[in-house]
Amino acid sequence: MSGSKSKPTELRRQRRARQHGCWGHLIVAPLWVAYDANLGTLLRTCDAVGACLAVPRTPHYKEALARGDTLRGRRPCIHWVAPSKEHWLDEQRAGGFRLVAVELADGATPLSRLEPARIPTVLLLGHEHNGVPDDVLTGVDECVEIPMVGWGASLNVAVAGSLVAYRLAGLS
Ligand SMILES: C[S@@+](CC[C@H](N)C(=O)[O-])C[C@H]1O[C@@H](n2cnc3c(N)ncnc32)[C@H](O)[C@@H]1O
Repeated sequence: MSGSKSKPTELRRQRRARQHGCWGHLIVAPLWVAYDANLGTLLRTCDAVGACLAVPRTPHYKEALARGDTLRGRRPCIHWVAPSKEHWLDEQRAGGFRLVAVELADGATPLSRLEPARIPTVLLLGHEHNGVPDDVLTGVDECVEIPMVGWGASLNVAVAGSLVAYRLAGLS
C-alpha cells in the first residue's frame, strides 16, 4: 500500500454514505440458528455483503437479534418468516428464489466451486447442534459444504454462513 492513509471511520464514510434497504437478491436465512452471538454475527455479514436476513417472527428471534446486534440500529433489511418456515420457503420458491443450504452432506458443492448467485437466492443455515432438517435438505436446489482438514466436526455456523454469503455475493 502507498499514499496517505485514511482512518477507518473516514473510509467507512466514503464507502457507505447511507444505510441500504432491501437488496432482495440474496437472503441469508438462519432459520434454525439459536444463539444471539451467531445471529448478531450473521447480521453484520449481511450488512457487509449487501444481503437481507430472514428469521422466524418469534419473540426468541426478536430478542436474540436485539441482543446480538452490534450495528447500533443501522441494521440491514430483515424479513420476518411467518406463519411457518415451510410456508415461507414455499413462498420464496414460488417467487423465483433458489434455495441453497450450507451443510455437510453427500453430493454437496465444495465452497471453492460455488458460483456467485445469478438469480435471487435464499441461503439456509442449520441449528448449532442439529443442523438443517433432513426434509428441508432434500428439497433444496443446491447444498454447499466447506471442506475441513482438522479434527473439528464442523465450523461455527456464523463462520460457515459468512464464507458462503461472501461467495454468493461475488465478493470472494
Ligand atoms: C455446528 S453445525 C451443526 C453440526 C451438527 N452436529 C450436524 O451434524 O449437522 C451448524 C451449522 O453450521 C453450518 N456448517 C458448519 N460447518 C460446515 C461445513 N464445514 N460445511 C457446511 N456447513 C457447515 C451448517 O449450516 C450447520 O447446520
